[in-house]
Amino acid sequence: MHKDDIEFGLSSERYAPETLAVHAAILPDPQTRAIAPNIVMSVNHSFLPNEGAFSAQGLEDISESPFLYAGWTNPTVRLLEERLAILEHAEDGLATASGMAAITAVFMSLLKAGDHLVISDVCYAAVYEFATQILPQFGIEVSTVDTSCINNVQKVLHESTKLVHVETPCNPLLRLTNIKELSELLKQRGILLSADSTFSTPVITRPLDLGADLVIHSLTKFINGHGDVLGGCVLGSKALISKLRSVAGVYFGASLSAQSAWLIMRGMETIYPRMKTLCESAYTIANWLENHPKVLRVLYPGLESHQQFSLAKRQMAFFGGIIAFQVEDIELIEQRFAHESKMFYYAYSIGHQRSLAVVLKTDDLDKSTYRFSPEQKANFCRDAGKGVVRLSIGLESPVDLIRDLSHLLR
Ligand SMILES: Cc1ncc(COP(=O)(O)O)c(C=O)c1O
Repeated sequence: MHKDDIEFGLSSERYAPETLAVHAAILPDPQTRAIAPNIVMSVNHSFLPNEGAFSAQGLEDISESPFLYAGWTNPTVRLLEERLAILEHAEDGLATASGMAAITAVFMSLLKAGDHLVISDVCYAAVYEFATQILPQFGIEVSTVDTSCINNVQKVLHESTKLVHVETPCNPLLRLTNIKELSELLKQRGILLSADSTFSTPVITRPLDLGADLVIHSLTKFINGHGDVLGGCVLGSKALISKLRSVAGVYFGASLSAQSAWLIMRGMETIYPRMKTLCESAYTIANWLENHPKVLRVLYPGLESHQQFSLAKRQMAFFGGIIAFQVEDIELIEQRFAHESKMFYYAYSIGHQRSLAVVLKTDDLDKSTYRFSPEQKANFCRDAGKGVVRLSIGLESPVDLIRDLSHLLR
């Protein structure tokens, strides 16, 4: 294979995604022939007077800018963006300091006072809180709906709706949104669709191929995969990403550091084998849990009992590494996971090489985040009951994980 064949944006048709995850956009350093990418730590890059951002011609498109200042773009971060764009079949990408920075960049760049945003009514708590508590302070109207049913979205759209933001599968209930169907509806009305695909990664679903305008990841999770760095990204058309780069990077200062970008790139190279392994384990464990007498209900897109199993089979290449389940005595199971588990670290995040678990109680989520209406609470409880144990399956043997779960559920 000639390294020159694997160039940004050209190679996706000729090479398998597993190959691209390892090789894409990487060439040995011309001077030292080092194979691992260099980390460029310089904040500044020297330039000539007619090249700078404030030259007479200005910068029409900040993504095309030469390297000037690390807050706007940096060679190591740019390489990560190019490699992420290849994996997600995007024209361009913007890496940010966290997943939240990516999401807030999308909202704050694409919406203005008077606009209307629709989001999944169950999604990562900070996204929900930002959308429902902070955006209205800027005159942005926000509707929260169960996007697993497209009719719910259709009902709230109006002339001012500019953006629909979904998480699929959503955190923590693993409900799915049909990206293809929703994007067709929104395109007719000129409304943008952004999809947070953190739970899926490009190994499982490529939202842009299905019609979404933007795909978002918390790189902190599966893409880095080792629980040792924060990062986020937004991927989409050159025009949209250029708009986001000026706001997120230049104005909000939400830029990713070069060291973090390098670590994420290293994790990302093994995304395919990692995801395949942990998805297979999660599938085995979800089936085991479903047959356990102490388990009331398992939420996992790969189970026939999942309400959207047929969509999961169409939209997901694997069913993911996150499982949520209900038990009768949620307080007891919380104590056991926190104090007795030998395999699951009791922690909030997801997507590490190590398995993690957390108990999310419905009343606590309601008080702290969702502030449900009675109908919304009933809809949430339909899947979550009094609360769920959320497992993020890691790379341990499923045999060891099941032995641990068996002890905790005794
Ligand atoms: C689905 C989803 N999106 C976004 C985020 C936010 O990412 P970060 O923690 O990198 O800001 C999270 C965090 O858990 C998440 O679960």
